[in-house]
Amino acid sequence: MIVDSNVENYIRSLSNTKDSRLFKLEKYAKENHVPIVESEVANFINILVTLKKPKNILELGTAIGYSSIVMGLSFSDSNIVTLEKNSKMVEIAQNNILKFGLEDRINVVECDAYEYLLNCSSKFDMIFIDAAKGQYLKYFKESMKLINDMGIIVCDNVLFRGMVCDEKALTKRHRKITIVKRLNEFLKYISNLEEYKTSIIPIDDGMSISYKI
Ligand SMILES: C[S@@+](CC[C@H](N)C(=O)[O-])C[C@H]1O[C@@H](n2cnc3c(N)ncnc32)[C@H](O)[C@@H]1O
Repeated sequence: MIVDSNVENYIRSLSNTKDSRLFKLEKYAKENHVPIVESEVANFINILVTLKKPKNILELGTAIGYSSIVMGLSFSDSNIVTLEKNSKMVEIAQNNILKFGLEDRINVVECDAYEYLLNCSSKFDMIFIDAAKGQYLKYFKESMKLINDMGIIVCDNVLFRGMVCDEKALTKRHRKITIVKRLNEFLKYISNLEEYKTSIIPIDDGMSISYKI
């Protein structure tokens, strides 16, 4: 836990204006143990997309399509490519996207996200990284080649339940140790890039926003 749970629950209880179909997706994700962005992260992404108005968005990690739907609803001129390696998830996401009538603007691609980045020649105004946490540095370095000037690269779960600040507390046999070491390397890298301004925001599991100057 990064944020006190009372504070988190309080923030989550404040708004009742959310599209009821999004609540249904959140319920499905919870019941089926599918990790999706938490409500406050979804709100933050909604604000970012509303302000930035990115015409082309690339998302790494679709799951059931929740965050791509949130982005699609936030700006009606956006076109989203979202990458998912699990075929079952691809099918569920496509069905959900249909229910929101967003199938013309959200394209779910079944693939390995890193392979896609290596072979992609399109440019994007926003890239949202939410796939394999141990691969964030690789994803970010390839994403830098695809992002337009003044574009943003947003990453979720970068603080990994706070473990990144206390790497030494993880024992040698802890299975998360590699991810934590890699996330630390990733956070140092993105925080020291001259051509990007980066902010790391401790909401939910931690997110980062890097703006290409
Ligand atoms: C945290 S979930 C994505 C949640 C989604 N962004 C949302 O908030 O609605 C991460 C997803 O990334 C997918 N994934 C993991 N590694 C991947 C890879 N190498 N290539 C493509 N997808 C991957 C997983 O199958 C999983 O569905």
